[in-house]
Amino acid sequence: MQLVILGSAAGGGIPQWNCRCSICSLAWEGDPRVKPRTQSSIAVSPDGERWLLVNASPDIRQQIQGNRQMHPREGLRHSPIHAVLLTNGDVDHVAGLLTLREMQVFTLYATPGILGSVNDNRVFDVLNAEAVQRQSIALNETFEPVPGLTVTLFAVPGKVPLWLEDASMQIGAETETTVGAMIEAGGKRLAYIPGCARVTDDLKRRIAGVDALLFDGTVLEDDDMIRAGVGTKTGWRMGHIQMNGETGSIASLADAEIGRRVFVHINNTNPVLVEGSTERESVESRGWTVGHDGMSFSL
Ligand code: MLT
Ligand code: MN
Ligand code: ZN
Repeated sequence: MQLVILGSAAGGGIPQWNCRCSICSLAWEGDPRVKPRTQSSIAVSPDGERWLLVNASPDIRQQIQGNRQMHPREGLRHSPIHAVLLTNGDVDHVAGLLTLREMQVFTLYATPGILGSVNDNRVFDVLNAEAVQRQSIALNETFEPVPGLTVTLFAVPGKVPLWLEDASMQIGAETETTVGAMIEAGGKRLAYIPGCARVTDDLKRRIAGVDALLFDGTVLEDDDMIRAGVGTKTGWRMGHIQMNGETGSIASLADAEIGRRVFVHINNTNPVLVEGSTERESVESRGWTVGHDGMSFSL
């Protein structure tokens, strides 16, 4: 299986268009310690020819341009993107669908809950139904979006997309609106979980023995955004677990059998983005890699 991290940042990217927090400021200045990052998306392929795009970021055009594997390469119209899968309905994961119009044939996969929010929004009808088939996938059902590559979706603690929040919403609920994807090809397994509010025993059992885990790296501490002075929301309120602390992702997964551990969906206020910082070194010393755009590996 081949994997490319097309976008390693959370919603907003790095630097975020309107942000002058200390980390975005370094990125605006071109300081080499903070790599610019685009919004959350990966691509996986069993053969390097046909790819599954997992999440369609608002930055998808730039991501396709910047990664040769994603370029059209035969005939007059072509894309190596064979299928698209969504793990939630947040803007950073669905807005790129609007860029994938132009009558290119592919199949869009998501749980009924996530696909429903796309179907309910008529702007996505720019994806002409003659070209783009929409396929609902039930939780825990294994499907094969690309020949030779299978996927199983599972619920993780999360919440509804920001733009669908209302008084009844529950943070940390395990429903089909926030899912992880177990991706398998050639006997290797990759777990991709860009949004997760809490590590449960169930989740740990689910990902035991994976060759690689790409996991929610939105915040280092629950109050990153408050510390940075840019907002009042905690990681928990946004449906994202912190890296540090007893109940954080690093400690919760410390004893899990996992090949490679990579943080993705990193918010621009997360201090681990600064190469050489104590925060970055601390995370790395505990066995994690901080993902960056263009990072690729084979399993
Ligand atoms: C999130 O992951 O919390 C969302 O992407 C927030 C957003 O839509 O801006
Ligand atoms: Mn997001
Ligand atoms: Zn910022």
